[in-house]
Amino acid sequence: MKILEAIGDIREEIKEARRNNKSVGFVPTMGYLHGGHLSLIKKAKEENDLVIVSIFVNPTQFGPGEDFESYPRDLKKDSSLAQSMGADIVFSPSIEEMYPLGCSTYVEIEGDITKKLCGASRSGHFKGVATVVTKLFNIVMPNRAYFGQKDAQQVAVIKRMVKDLHLDVEIVPCPIVREGDGLAMSSRNTYLNEEERRAGTILSKALFEAKERIEEGEINPLKISYFIIETIESEPLCEIDYVEVVHGETLESIERVKGDVLIALAVKIGKTRLIDNLRLEV
Ligand code: PAF
Repeated sequence: MKILEAIGDIREEIKEARRNNKSVGFVPTMGYLHGGHLSLIKKAKEENDLVIVSIFVNPTQFGPGEDFESYPRDLKKDSSLAQSMGADIVFSPSIEEMYPLGCSTYVEIEGDITKKLCGASRSGHFKGVATVVTKLFNIVMPNRAYFGQKDAQQVAVIKRMVKDLHLDVEIVPCPIVREGDGLAMSSRNTYLNEEERRAGTILSKALFEAKERIEEGEINPLKISYFIIETIESEPLCEIDYVEVVHGETLESIERVKGDVLIALAVKIGKTRLIDNLRLEV
């Protein structure tokens, strides 16, 4: 497996792959790989000839006071994990490589899809994500790109962007991978101390109990939200940012829990902000 830092080098590899009619699968990450990332690499390997994993902690998607500086980084461990899952290339550019001096072009998706849910408390976040993902797509030119459904809003935003900008890449969303106790895997879970880690299990518990209520016939999205809020508030360490029951693709509000439904939430536990969700076909 190769580890490349220069855009020029990765472009050479892509040209070579194209000359040999190889399909390219791409897994964009910010590193500190966990089981969720590894499942994306595995799927990319199953479906493509060449698999590229990018590891880049993207400064433009972090707001002031967020965890850009402290975001966990371990390129050596990440590279060996990526290799063990069959990745062919790790692309790990510097900030200067991705955002050279004078860089002033950004990609912004308008409307509810970026303004609601995480967008409401992380203004500018999805502009940073859309910009870096567009740059990475332009560099890697993948046939398919793999994203974890844990970041459901990110998947919706990227799908919208790919459609709007006529980008020639298939977006492949992959299921959330959970720890044994239900906590959705995330690089940020490493911030949690033992007590916070235990408190974090209430998120998936609330989501799955809400799913049971829906299966029993509850169709009122507000009742589902209130139920989740009450359940999470029973855990004193949790501070809710949002709980939303919305359309799975557009993220628009819904009047009835019917069809493609996303139940999404963000909760602060101590200093750590965790997100989780369930997407249901009702
Ligand atoms: O999901 C992530 O890790 C990041 O938002 C992404 C897609 C790699 C862009 O920086």
